[in-house]
Amino acid sequence: MRPLDRLTSIKTKLGIVIVGAVVGTTLAIVLGVTAGLGWKGSALISAAVGLLFIQVLARGMTSPLREMASASREMATGDYGRRVTATSRDEVGELARAFNHMAAQLEEADRVRRDLVANVSHELRTPISALQAVLENLVDGVAPPDERTLRTMLIQVERLGRLVNQLLDLSKLESGVVPLQHRTFELGSLLRQAAHEARVNAEQTGARDIRIDVELEPADLRADGDPEGLHQVLSNLLDNAVRHSPEGGRVRLSARAARDRIELEVADEGPGISPGEEARVFERFYRSDAARSTSEGGTGLGLAIARWIVDLHGGEIRAERREPHGCRMVVELPGVAA
Ligand SMILES: Nc1ncnc2c1ncn2[C@@H]1O[C@H](COP(=O)(O)OP(=O)(O)OP(=O)(O)O)[C@@H](O)[C@H]1O
Ligand SMILES: [Mg+2]
Repeated sequence: MRPLDRLTSIKTKLGIVIVGAVVGTTLAIVLGVTAGLGWKGSALISAAVGLLFIQVLARGMTSPLREMASASREMATGDYGRRVTATSRDEVGELARAFNHMAAQLEEADRVRRDLVANVSHELRTPISALQAVLENLVDGVAPPDERTLRTMLIQVERLGRLVNQLLDLSKLESGVVPLQHRTFELGSLLRQAAHEARVNAEQTGARDIRIDVELEPADLRADGDPEGLHQVLSNLLDNAVRHSPEGGRVRLSARAARDRIELEVADEGPGISPGEEARVFERFYRSDAARSTSEGGTGLGLAIARWIVDLHGGEIRAERREPHGCRMVVELPGVAA
């Protein structure tokens, strides 16, 4: 704590420093003259007293500014770890606190960027290494160029393509290059279309006769939003639901008007999301340990994309447990269109 840290205005602080210095020097001159030091000696002593006063009282008034200047120079070189002392309550203290907040935000953004680069490289390397291994075997004549080998390669190429597309989607959403096209539309046809596509995908990927049911309440429910974007949200949720469903499982895709909101829900009968992971599954590249240990499955971007789109609609998305087992993904959109 420095002498004037309690004061909330820099003007008051300067006033006190000036008044203090003037009183101190005047007293020093009067005392010097009465003690017979003469004008010259008294003036020298009073100057020293004045400087001392300013040194003591104004201590720390400008040091945060110097600290900020040096921290900014470090930031320019990519080091976001420095924070400045922010004990005073005046405008400089406020600036110091704002500076620290900005530094913390920049540090976090930098961490996210680094993680993203590391994750992307890792996710790209896995299918590329697998492809390379198969191609080497083909070139060396260790493996025949038969249908099975080619299919393995195709799966890896598809995985690469999907990853690149998802990354592009995410970066477009984040940078706002493609603004959402809001309009009022019938939810029924969107839900049925998404369910139909999910059924086709499930058949193609050999999912074990999974049923996808659509429920609407009321049947002519309409929503305000970007149909393309919401279609992608539902596709991503249905893709997960189908992938985690047991053989012969049932997936329910439903929409209902709830007070001033529209609630969309995708529920499955799979293992559900473990407690504590409900928020993390929406992070980019997050996959549960169970999903990580199996070779099938995606890259962990589906829910991150879904959350971006829902956020852009001013809505909310959350994962819930379904009793006795299963996962419920709930999307809440604001406003019920008449
Ligand atoms: N319906 C669900 N049941 C159980 N776990 C789920 C479900 N949906 C998502 N998860 C968990 O959340 C993780 C993240 O899901 P997300 O859709 O973001 O990625 P992904 O499905 O692994 O890959 P991608 O969708 O990018 O192909 C999944 O890996 C899985 O562990
Ligand atoms: Mg997914």
